[in-house]
Amino acid sequence: MTAVLTVENLSTFFKTEKGIARAVENVSFSVEEGEMLGLIGESGCGKTTVAQSILRLIEFPGKVVAGSVHLNGRDLLKASDSELDSLRWKDLSVIPQNAMNALNPVYTIGDQIMEAILLHERVSKREALARTKTLLELVGIDGDRWKSYPHEFSGGMKQRVAIAMSLACSPKLVISDESTTGLDVLTQAQVIALIKNLQRKMDLSVILISHDLPMVTAICDKIAIMYAGKIVELASTEDILNDTRHPYSKALLQATPDLSDPDREVISIPGSVPNLVNIPQCCRFHTRCAFAFDRCRKETPEFREVKNGHFSACFLEEEENG
Ligand SMILES: Nc1ncnc2c1ncn2[C@@H]1O[C@H](COP(=O)(O)OP(=O)(O)OP(=O)(O)O)[C@@H](O)[C@H]1O
Ligand code: SF4
Ligand SMILES: [Mg+2]
Repeated sequence: MTAVLTVENLSTFFKTEKGIARAVENVSFSVEEGEMLGLIGESGCGKTTVAQSILRLIEFPGKVVAGSVHLNGRDLLKASDSELDSLRWKDLSVIPQNAMNALNPVYTIGDQIMEAILLHERVSKREALARTKTLLELVGIDGDRWKSYPHEFSGGMKQRVAIAMSLACSPKLVISDESTTGLDVLTQAQVIALIKNLQRKMDLSVILISHDLPMVTAICDKIAIMYAGKIVELASTEDILNDTRHPYSKALLQATPDLSDPDREVISIPGSVPNLVNIPQCCRFHTRCAFAFDRCRKETPEFREVKNGHFSACFLEEEENG
């Protein structure tokens, strides 16, 4: 498989009155062609900061302080603003969290999708309209409704339009950051199923950011589990479920109800994610980890490959295997 996106040792910090918040530190992962990667972890663990760093949307007081982000071999962190503008539509795009913010209420949805196509590709208006209709059909909306205004659609349909818009210039990689928040449960499931369907159909690479572990395990090929600014475990979904290595991943799985096994006890994780400002060198999970020992409070465990394609950052693994 070919990696479409490679993120290496990415670190993004925020300057705050109390000191430096190390929001994302030394994060590395890749997304292959046609692969769906789930990025999961509790609130405040840095998922959005990773996405915004990839998209070059980090603004003061934040800064990407280290690392590289290669998309089809091009370093996004070094691209000029005009290169980025075109890359953002043609190579990677975002499904917005709130379609209401992404769609302009005074233009028809067709005009908005067409504008995205016409701004970034050399095609006639006629071709852009034909593509707009195809895109609408692709997301389950009658192509003839291109003349409708956003207010004429339900929340779920607006989210579908936003998805169609994100696909306007046939990107290779799509990032969805909690893009079903605010929709009712049934509509959320339909939108997620649509994203999965499009991923398969268009051979898209997708980064799916979510709090919803059961949903992520149901549809993603690979999962990266983030805790307090770091990826603590990265593996195929199969391994995350059946060969879980990191204590945080285990805790997160135990804290999630299993619909196929309603008798399994749900155990919530004690404590909360630490404040990332001036955080000392240590395993950031040590205050909540049932296995913590002296070394965990003084050193940072390395994120290392524990078996083929399966990475984890925990001293236990090292102590057991020497
Ligand atoms: N503008 C900011 N100023 C200061 N610190 C920030 C800022 N934005 C983010 N952070 C820091 O980055 C950390 C990670 O935030 P981020 O929004 O990436 O988390 P998240 O995993 O996306 O959370 P959620 O699941 O709630 O969306 C926060 O805990 C905070 O310390
Ligand atoms: S390094 Fe220590 S504190 Fe961190 S997860 Fe492993 S055992 Fe727990
Ligand atoms: Mg977020």
